[in-house]
Amino acid sequence: MSQYHIKNLEEYFQVYRKSVQQPETFWHEVAEEQFVWRKPWDEVLSWDFEKPELRWFEGAELNITENCIDRHLTAQGDSTAIIFEPNDPDEEPQHISYKELHKRVCKFANVLKAQGIKKGDRVCIYLPMIPELAVAVLACARIGAIHSVVFAGFSSTALATRINDSDCKLVITSDGSFRGKKTIDLKGIVDEALKSCEGVESVLVAKRINSEITLKEGRDHWLQPLLDDASDECAAEIMKAEDPLFILYTSGSTGNPKGMVHSTAGYMVYTAYTFKNVFQYNRGDVYWCTADIGWITGHSYIVYGPLANGATTVMFEGVPTYPDWGRFWQIVGKHKVNQFYTAPTAIRALAKESLDLVTKHDLSSLKVLGTVGEPINEEAWHWYDENIGKGNSPIVDTWWQTETGGIMISPIPFATPTIPTFATLPLPGIQPCLMDEEGKEIKGNPASGRLCIKFPWPAMARTIWGDHQRYKDTYFSTFKNHYFTGDGALRDQTGYYRITGRVDDVIIVSGHNLGTAPIEDAINEHPAVAESAVVGYPHDIKGNALFGFVILKESGEERKQENLKKEINQLITERIGPIAKLERIQFTRGLPKTRSGKIMRRILRKIAEGHTKDIGDTSTLLNPEVVDEIISDKK
Ligand code: WTA
Repeated sequence: MSQYHIKNLEEYFQVYRKSVQQPETFWHEVAEEQFVWRKPWDEVLSWDFEKPELRWFEGAELNITENCIDRHLTAQGDSTAIIFEPNDPDEEPQHISYKELHKRVCKFANVLKAQGIKKGDRVCIYLPMIPELAVAVLACARIGAIHSVVFAGFSSTALATRINDSDCKLVITSDGSFRGKKTIDLKGIVDEALKSCEGVESVLVAKRINSEITLKEGRDHWLQPLLDDASDECAAEIMKAEDPLFILYTSGSTGNPKGMVHSTAGYMVYTAYTFKNVFQYNRGDVYWCTADIGWITGHSYIVYGPLANGATTVMFEGVPTYPDWGRFWQIVGKHKVNQFYTAPTAIRALAKESLDLVTKHDLSSLKVLGTVGEPINEEAWHWYDENIGKGNSPIVDTWWQTETGGIMISPIPFATPTIPTFATLPLPGIQPCLMDEEGKEIKGNPASGRLCIKFPWPAMARTIWGDHQRYKDTYFSTFKNHYFTGDGALRDQTGYYRITGRVDDVIIVSGHNLGTAPIEDAINEHPAVAESAVVGYPHDIKGNALFGFVILKESGEERKQENLKKEINQLITERIGPIAKLERIQFTRGLPKTRSGKIMRRILRKIAEGHTKDIGDTSTLLNPEVVDEIISDKK
């Protein structure tokens, strides 16, 4: 039996048991079975959750692109690595073979080198979902530069914060992007951001929408002519196992976004291993994850995990609604997709549309369906199962985080029996547990508590860029000797996990993590605003939506307030991006606060959810009377 590929429940339990009892032997064998190493490791794991310090495969040397590209060239150089499906259904898709990908990555890597980029330098990538995005990521990895991909829906302010936080020297962008019928001026956003980024020396611009843009002399360059002139051979930089591979920003409950740092060997081994098992990928299958490479799901399960397995991975540029709500299903039929991985928010939105948009497409190629990013409700699960999977494609509800690098709790299709809304069992190597509020582990089943992980796994983020203390405080200080996820979960009689949602001030809207603090900061910038508090409330498509309670310096008449709502959302769009816009805004005269001045979000959350009574204990409030006032003013 190959430990690398689990095929049934018995094998799962066998492999899982070994991974817990002898974790180092287990990961040693997995790493040895599949990958090419320039030098083997001296030690599989050394760890200390107190510091915290985590080292996997210490002593090993490798380059992840040799594992994702070069090693497939002999056996399957002509097979397709990436299928690019453009925004416009009438534009020809591209099938990029492993050989072709190798050339493109080498050329791009040589262009980066010619721009003075060296091992360890940070490169910011702000691109739409076009092949250049995957190629840019791999080109950085080829030469050991640390990529920081910023989702191209973020605003110029959000982009600038991320560029400056990690001192990026170079930015890769495009003249613009297509999103359904719209185009977006990405280069303009970059120009605006760079007004406050002094460290950026050059900008490479891919041509995508053929818009008129201005190139800043000495700083900006069209990408294509540089690629045309570059050699298509580029030796891979030899990296140490723990060298950083990339930084990816994620929202925290307070303060600026956190630049999670992932390292090379452990991330590669874990994403490749989990990809193989969670999607039961077999050679020749066509796999499609609808996420954007700007998020961790795209890093791990569009680029690295699939390519490390020699898979064919689809990259889709467009949106699910264009030219109509059947676009996803049309693409599944067109490319004969075998594994399809998307977010519950997309499923809920698609389920609202006519079934004709599903039935007119051929979905018979589908074997495995996946979800990620937020809890999936029972109704959406059944809709997905019945209408897309036709009752015979197992659904993998995969729980994981930017910080975990790869999928942690998930069924293994055809092995683990699924139950709607349950992410089910931990993958090999993952040791989850539930903690009570006093920090004691809750043993026995059923149980519910805060979800923690007791033992390291290879793809854990190693630190927060430039702020190791924050890394320690956020993940390793709430519960001694445990990684704290920030999520709540319950475990049923059989040991299955169901993730119930965040227990901190991170709100998941349409599968995107949003921290309340930066949104409140944006609102408070409005000259008419004195103070604000943002909470999440259930929304039938987005999962959660944002509700802002805003105190104005002077309360104006209704008409003015309507304008203010628009202006506030405009500010949020400028500072963060449209994903953080408030669904509802209520102007209030006060916010419920503790005697020490802390806003009691628990109470606001209840009000936003629609409760008018039983909103919890208000006796410790400094100003309990505002609660009734807010409730009676809520429309
Ligand atoms: C939530 C996305 C329930 C969770 C890969 C987690 C989920 C956060 C699931 C991480 C799931 C992710 N069921 N909740 N299957 N998957 N989450 O960093 O709250 O964007 O902490 O990583 O999404 O979001 P992130």
